[in-house]
Amino acid sequence: EHAAQVLVASNRGPVSYALREDGTLDSKRGGGGLVSGLSAVDDKLWVCAALGDGDREAVRRGVSETGVRMLDIDAGVHADAYNGIANSVLWFVHHMIYQTPLEPVFDAEFRRQWASYEAYNRAFAEALAEEAGEGASVLVQDYHLSLVPGMLRELRPDLRIGHFSHTPWAPVDYFRLLPDDIGEQLLKGILGADRAAFLTRRWADAFISCCTEILGGTGRTRIGVHGLGADADFLRRRSREADVDDRMEILREQVGADRRTIVRVDRTELSKNIVRGMHAYRALLEERPEWRGRVVHIAFAYPSRQDLAVYRDYTAEVQRVADAINAEYGTEGWTPVLLHVDDDFARSLAAYRLADVALVNPIRDGMNLVAKEVPVVSDHGCALVLSREAGAYEELGEDAIVVNPYDVSATAAALHEALTMDPDERGARTKRLATAATALPPQQWFLDQLDALRG
Ligand code: G6P
Repeated sequence: EHAAQVLVASNRGPVSYALREDGTLDSKRGGGGLVSGLSAVDDKLWVCAALGDGDREAVRRGVSETGVRMLDIDAGVHADAYNGIANSVLWFVHHMIYQTPLEPVFDAEFRRQWASYEAYNRAFAEALAEEAGEGASVLVQDYHLSLVPGMLRELRPDLRIGHFSHTPWAPVDYFRLLPDDIGEQLLKGILGADRAAFLTRRWADAFISCCTEILGGTGRTRIGVHGLGADADFLRRRSREADVDDRMEILREQVGADRRTIVRVDRTELSKNIVRGMHAYRALLEERPEWRGRVVHIAFAYPSRQDLAVYRDYTAEVQRVADAINAEYGTEGWTPVLLHVDDDFARSLAAYRLADVALVNPIRDGMNLVAKEVPVVSDHGCALVLSREAGAYEELGEDAIVVNPYDVSATAAALHEALTMDPDERGARTKRLATAATALPPQQWFLDQLDALRG
């Protein structure tokens, strides 16, 4: 047995387990940028948390995959750290989601959850310290694990440690919502890394300015930017498989002949701005009656973080607004909004292929890969309506129709512009978007970080 030379740490790992009725375990591989990025590295160890009962049972039975170590952290500690701190506080700060008159409130309950966040981070640091070979490279992912670099540095000064933020970083005035000692602890935690990296220059600069204003600088930590791109080879191949063709047939039937489509695909996530997107679509139907009966808004909104009441409420609101639009404008043969909530990757690809317009209007987003994936698989060119608050805007802004995500009227006007774009223009833009979107494939994105850490 030899200790690992490349280690990755993240809350959500590449595999998850579900407990079947008959007591056996069913394993499922995950997707996403990190999973494809890591496929380029052979000899690595992925340290992640057990997230549900199936995962915990797998750990207890000693079931695992080569190269993956799942940590069975106490369920209550994990819930406080993941739901309470990471997803309710840090996610909200990084994406600027708080409505500040009533929230946040940092009280004794917050302090109790913060202690769990520390314990959860410590469990990761200890596991990494145990598994890493002499001088190994450790790549720590995201806001769940912001304290890990600092903790790991103390346990193992010999390691090369990187931290990567997949979220935006808030400007210093907003970041200062956090209690002073907590803000400092987060910044110092990340600065425990040799290198802290971000998806865009904008988020990196915000982090630097937080460090400068609050701590007086970034110390000896180097700051990097790696703009994760879409996986062109995988997407082109996967989107041409038979199950995707089948779903295109079904979607075409649901849309009806001779109608345009406005497509969005998201986790049902507060930062994705799905409700304002529907309001913009409603405004389009209201102000430009010529589109009634001639366009369908295909919205795939896949449930996410349902342990949190705000996410459940938001999911219900998405459904309510979609129903209201259908009740108000729908006719015998035309359903204006086609909302699907059951996660189906093949159907998402089918929608990407047939979309006339893709709507990507997050109030804030670290990158947004949907904006990058659509142009790659599009069959006949697709106009992209893109929020200037998505990280992808830095790379795709020139050929997208750019919107302020809070401006519903401007978004409605952008949808009209997108629907009426000249087909040649649309095709040319889609080509340029696809080129920009695939400039840094996931495998290269990961190898670049490894090289930079070792260099
Ligand atoms: C974002 C975060 C990831 C997270 C993903 C899904 O992309 O940056 O760290 O894994 O959302 O969220 P979840 O809470 O389901 O893991």
